[in-house]
Amino acid sequence: MIWDYYNGKTLFVTGGTGFIGTALLCRLLSQSCPKRVYVLCRGGADKAKAKWSDMLPPSAAQILTENERMTILDGELGNTATMSLPEETIQMLKRTVHIVIHMAASAQLQNSLRELAYNVLAPSICLTQYALKFPNLERYVYFSTAYANAHLWKSHESTDVSVDERIYPLGREEEDYYKIALEAWSAVQKTGSSDEYDAHDFPWPYAYAKHLAERLVLQKAAERNKMDKVLIIRPSVLGPADKFPYPGFATSHGAPSTVCAAEYMLHPGRRIRLSTRCQNPEQESTIDEVPVDVVVDRTLVHVALETSGCIHAVSGEQGRLSTEEWWRAFKKERRLPWNAKLSWVSDDWHSPNLHQMARKFKIIGTSFAFSQERTVKALEKLGDGERKNLQLFADRSKPYSLHLRRHHIRHQAVEVAKKKKWPVFSVRMLCRNGKPVACLDENVKT
Ligand SMILES: NC(=O)c1ccc[n+]([C@@H]2O[C@H](COP(=O)([O-])OP(=O)(O)OC[C@H]3O[C@@H](n4cnc5c(N)ncnc54)[C@H](OP(=O)(O)O)[C@@H]3O)[C@@H](O)[C@H]2O)c1
Repeated sequence: MIWDYYNGKTLFVTGGTGFIGTALLCRLLSQSCPKRVYVLCRGGADKAKAKWSDMLPPSAAQILTENERMTILDGELGNTATMSLPEETIQMLKRTVHIVIHMAASAQLQNSLRELAYNVLAPSICLTQYALKFPNLERYVYFSTAYANAHLWKSHESTDVSVDERIYPLGREEEDYYKIALEAWSAVQKTGSSDEYDAHDFPWPYAYAKHLAERLVLQKAAERNKMDKVLIIRPSVLGPADKFPYPGFATSHGAPSTVCAAEYMLHPGRRIRLSTRCQNPEQESTIDEVPVDVVVDRTLVHVALETSGCIHAVSGEQGRLSTEEWWRAFKKERRLPWNAKLSWVSDDWHSPNLHQMARKFKIIGTSFAFSQERTVKALEKLGDGERKNLQLFADRSKPYSLHLRRHHIRHQAVEVAKKKKWPVFSVRMLCRNGKPVACLDENVKT
């Protein structure tokens, strides 16, 4: 059984108070009996418990806030392996930990590469180097993004770009990409950029930072002959949970398409200008939004099956949405009749003429077919009973809807209105009212 793998194990988790981290800890601690789970949190136990109590209904929050198997460590990732923890804690982790799950990242799509070197790259390299020295280490999990390879949209002509679960070198295939990654990292630290970054058109520096981080994590593992222990998880666009800890679970900023819905909701004009190269963009361009519980179950299953290398945590070709489907669901959420249309242009994805959501997210109007072959194969190793209780694929049996996230759309829309200096009642007029789904405590299925 998948869950048995975790019994008696000691885990060290970063990002445990984030969107994925909260769902992952709930799932892990309600299904298995690890010996201990150490969670790194800036601000320690009080801050972590306050965040979980805010995000979750009482019965789910309790799994985390009153768990005897969990210890919250007050620390912070930075450019040293000490994480602001006392030396004896650092040594204790080294002696005892079997599984490291590194999800933490304070990354914004608009951050510069120089900022990401500090926020994403240096902390991940330090943690990887430290963890790979643990004598009992069984698995090291690094969270990247499926869009680490989004530059392929620009280097391919297809209107649906396939992405496999592998590293796409930025130099020539035959070159030593570990060596190239080290050189690029050195250049990023010195100059805030690198030749390979300049040579490829990534939608955001964040995508390149994750691409480089993946290669540096693997380079450190290769150096220590521990490639078989490293798993890289690449989620696409996170969306609310289908099932666990309850249908609709999300954080207010965690799901990018909720942010997008709030911005479109308050768009004053009749046209929303987006960029594409598709002939029929509404049908051909797609959004790969993955429920957070699919990301969690894929991660926990692949860790238990001792998978190494890259795994996509995505909805994939069967589960992704066309822009048309998303737009239809969005329009149902607006209270006042509104004849706005998507207006498609062939501008570059960095063009300043696009709607601000297209300028921010860039991948609107594209289409990626992320392979999920390795999860399909993993499924074959599981028994029928076990498969039934896992959420490994997005459930698209019902028409796509945004109704479970009304509360979050409204919350985001209030922030947008404040930024625009609009009265808050405009949000009440435009957005449908919805209670947080977590109010329905009986929804919680842990
Ligand atoms: N959201 C998405 O759509 C998406 C898509 C693809 C990939 N990902 C990746 O998946 C991972 C998790 O994403 P998420 O959406 O769950 O993140 P999130 O909700 O933004 O949470 C970020 C977490 O990282 C922690 N953190 C940030 N900087 C830290 C530092 N310096 N030291 C210690 N902890 C730190 C935060 O802790 P505090 O509580 O202290 O703030 C929080 O627990 C990230 O690596 C992200 O890049 C996310």
